[in-house]
Amino acid sequence: MIIMESEGNEMARLTSIGFKDFQNLPLEDKRPYLENWNLPGTPYHTLIAQQFDRALLERLAALANRIRFINKSREGALYLKGLLAHKRAMLYFSQPSSRTFLSHLAACQILGLTTGSVRDAATSSEFKGESKEDSIRTFSSYFDMIIMRTPEKGLAEQMAWELSNSDRPIPIINAGSGKDQHPTQALLDVYTLLRSFETKGGLKNRTVTFCGDLLRGRTVRSLSYLLTNFENVRQVFVAPKELQVPEDVLDILKAKGVSYALSDNLREATSLSDAVYMTRIQDEWDKDKGESARIDTSKFKFGAEELKLLPKDGVIMHPLPRRDEIATCCDHDPRAMYWRQMRNGMWIRAALIAATFGYEREILGCGY
Ligand code: NCD
Repeated sequence: MIIMESEGNEMARLTSIGFKDFQNLPLEDKRPYLENWNLPGTPYHTLIAQQFDRALLERLAALANRIRFINKSREGALYLKGLLAHKRAMLYFSQPSSRTFLSHLAACQILGLTTGSVRDAATSSEFKGESKEDSIRTFSSYFDMIIMRTPEKGLAEQMAWELSNSDRPIPIINAGSGKDQHPTQALLDVYTLLRSFETKGGLKNRTVTFCGDLLRGRTVRSLSYLLTNFENVRQVFVAPKELQVPEDVLDILKAKGVSYALSDNLREATSLSDAVYMTRIQDEWDKDKGESARIDTSKFKFGAEELKLLPKDGVIMHPLPRRDEIATCCDHDPRAMYWRQMRNGMWIRAALIAATFGYEREILGCGY
């Protein structure tokens, strides 16, 4: 029988601070408030990339590797399925999603969690005028974890605070909040980079180029931060000037002494990069309809020419969905990492969920 000492006592330190004070903290100072009270260094709520340092990233990557290995045999898969069979997770996605929704769902299934979902706020009682806070409290009556994606910046943070200060605290995983953060996408991106360069000297001294809509893409903000955990990783931002990376991202790089460059030349950047991270134009955020269509994005696409320029050990990544920013002729090149990236998402999310519930030892120490 598996009984965890911490079980039933999971709690984040969010109980010791008022919401406004918490909201106003610098991002890196939020980390201790989001950790599991009983498992120092382990996230309880996962809200922002600033919760992850290199040690935690490598720990989760190792756990994900273990899970994918154990899952290869029927016995191993059944063992994993037993670990969290007593837990239920709610997937609350009020913004479109395919991969993030499905990979979290699959991650829950690997660990045996039962799941429920709301994919459209209009089908819940919010439609009858119920506040989001009340809806979330309702979920916590029936579930043991909430995985949520919303168009509102900061909503997951507010909900995490509300839940931690309620009679039934349960963890929240932010699966994408507005234009702001997408911490679990950044985890799978780093996991993919770690695996890609594992036998080639690691992530140290690499150059990562981000290309596309860097202004409104939340995956870029989260991944740019996570990369600062690795020694001498240079970041290049290639975008039309209207969609260049925002100041807050650059301020973090400056404060950390990370070397970076802004450019509008994808070919040049590609020839100097170990990884090229393409993103789509996020036109759903257009303030005045059609504003993105008026921007010339023709130079910000990865095709046969760019492929020729990419170093032999380089990788092409994309959080997906893609439109035409990566030509399909690149899909079968061994350096195209976006399909593997998607599958990596399922394993690293399973690792995060297992760690959140305090089940690392059962995974790392089992005989499979
Ligand atoms: C990204 C997102 O939702 O921010 N997609 C994803 O989660 N895989 C990127 C995007 O929508 O362009």
